[in-house]
Amino acid sequence: MLKKFSGLLRTFFGGKQEPFEARSVLIKEQEYLLRGITDDDIKELIALEKDVYQGEVPWTRSAFLAEIHSPVPHLYICMTHREELVAFIGSRIMGNDAHITNVAVKRAFQGSGLGSFLIDEVERFAIMKSCITLSLEVRMGNINAQRLYRRIGFEGRKVRRNYYTENNEDALEMIKHLEGPK
Ligand SMILES: CC(C)(COP(=O)(O)OP(=O)(O)OC[C@H]1O[C@@H](n2cnc3c(N)ncnc32)[C@H](O)[C@@H]1OP(=O)(O)O)[C@@H](O)C(=O)NCCC(=O)NCCS
Repeated sequence: MLKKFSGLLRTFFGGKQEPFEARSVLIKEQEYLLRGITDDDIKELIALEKDVYQGEVPWTRSAFLAEIHSPVPHLYICMTHREELVAFIGSRIMGNDAHITNVAVKRAFQGSGLGSFLIDEVERFAIMKSCITLSLEVRMGNINAQRLYRRIGFEGRKVRRNYYTENNEDALEMIKHLEGPK
C-alpha cells in the first residue's frame, strides 16, 4: 500500500473517474456487486480499514478524496455483498505503469478470492491503458499478501528502507510485467 499521504499530494475536486460499469460477479458461489467508488463510500472504506488494520486508518477521508478525484487516470472500485462494502482496490496510471495504491478485503471475507479478483480487474484496466507493468508496495512483514502477489505473477523489485514512517518498516516494491490484452 502507498504510505500515508503527506502534503505532497494535492487534493483535486474537479477530476473524475472514467465511467465504470457496475456488474454483478460470482466468486466461489457468492454474489457480489462490483462498482466504482464514490464519495458516499468513504465512511465505509474507513470502517473497512479499521477492521483490517486493527483500528488504524492508513488513509484518511482526504486521502481517499484526493485519489478518487485525481485528474490522473485511475480506477477505484469496490465490491459489496448484500449492500455491505467488503473489499476495494485503487490504482493510478503513472507513465507505462499502473500502480496499485491500496487494496483491502474485510477480515470475514479474506481468503475468498476477492483480492485476486480485484487485482485482475486492475490488470485489465492497465492493459486497456497500454501499461506494460503493474506495481505496488507491501510491508516487508506482510507475508500473506506477498505470497498472494507472487502467486499471481508479481516479483520483488527493490526494498525501500523505512518507507512506512510511523514504524520505520521497510516496503518491498513488487512488479508484474503485463502481456497484452487477455
Ligand atoms: C491481502 C488481501 C488484499 C488479499 O485479499 P484476499 O481476498 O484475502 O485474497 P484471495 O482470497 O484472493 O487470495 C488468498 C491469498 O491471500 C493471502 N491472504 C492474505 N491474507 C489472508 C487471510 N487473512 N486469509 C487467507 N488468505 C490470506 C493468502 O496468502 C492466499 O494465498 P494462497 O491462495 O496462495 O494461499 C487481504 O487479505 C487483505 O485485505 N489483507 C489486509 C490488508 C492488506 O494487507 N492489504 C495489502 C496491502 S499491500
